[in-house]
Amino acid sequence: MSNLSIQNLHIHFSGVVALDEVSFDIKEGEIFSLIGPNGSGKSTLFNCINGFCSPQRGSIKYNNVDLLARRPHEIVKHGISRTFQNLQNVPFMTLLDNILLGAHHRLTMRDTFTRWISRKERGREEALALEVMDFLGIANFEKKYLSGQPYGIQKLVEIARALICKPKLILMDEPAAGMNDQETLEIGKIISEIRDILNITVLVVEHDMNLVMNISDRICVLDSGRILAMGEPEEVKNHPKVIKVFLGDEVHA
Ligand SMILES: Nc1ncnc2c1ncn2[C@@H]1O[C@H](COP(=O)(O)OP(=O)(O)OP(=O)(O)O)[C@@H](O)[C@H]1O
Ligand SMILES: [Mg+2]
Repeated sequence: MSNLSIQNLHIHFSGVVALDEVSFDIKEGEIFSLIGPNGSGKSTLFNCINGFCSPQRGSIKYNNVDLLARRPHEIVKHGISRTFQNLQNVPFMTLLDNILLGAHHRLTMRDTFTRWISRKERGREEALALEVMDFLGIANFEKKYLSGQPYGIQKLVEIARALICKPKLILMDEPAAGMNDQETLEIGKIISEIRDILNITVLVVEHDMNLVMNISDRICVLDSGRILAMGEPEEVKNHPKVIKVFLGDEVHA
């Protein structure tokens, strides 16, 4: 059974400790949420998992593969893709081309020089991109330029680019940030369907507590780079430290 195992992770930037002794496992098929105040280390944890940051101590293994020994494009090939808190879209490209950027790791150098193979390859990737767009409810948008599209669509393109990598585990950094209530509900549904229909394990960072409480199997709360609490939504919601430090009365409203 595939899983992600993080042990005693520690990373600091000059004097700032971003993560300290962070350990947890994510099981295959879980929707696991990471919450915590600004600067508590959530995005840094994603950066460690996908190879953008090198922690000073600890280990990250996925299906017993040591991810810390691997570079970002290799980690994608091992089945882990991610979305970014700050959208990584290219405004002057079409939605389709923005999404196809996520398939880049599958194209070989030979394809760049062999036009016929390249076309065939592109056709295959395009078909997959269209399937992903259909799944996300943005079918027929493929030829539109990203520039000028509503923010909600741009967020879906970010998710589509991660899905076209064909991950077994997706890391989503604040998918509902900047969304209105209706769009947030839609995102919740999409996250559940990513797990239920596409069979992808989900690790999500979110500030929207209602969304987190609704979709998560388990939640890990980070505070200044350390784990403050971890468990099922009810446990975390009722954890005195969590209520005091992070959630206030919001989840009881
Ligand atoms: N590349 C970096 N260089 C220096 N400091 C960094 C770097 N990346 C993160 N940090 C610092 O590490 C800490 C954790 O940042 P991180 O972005 O992981 O927080 P976060 O929980 O994602 O916050 P937010 O909810 O605002 O997105 C912060 O103090 C941040 O300034
Ligand atoms: Mg962040």
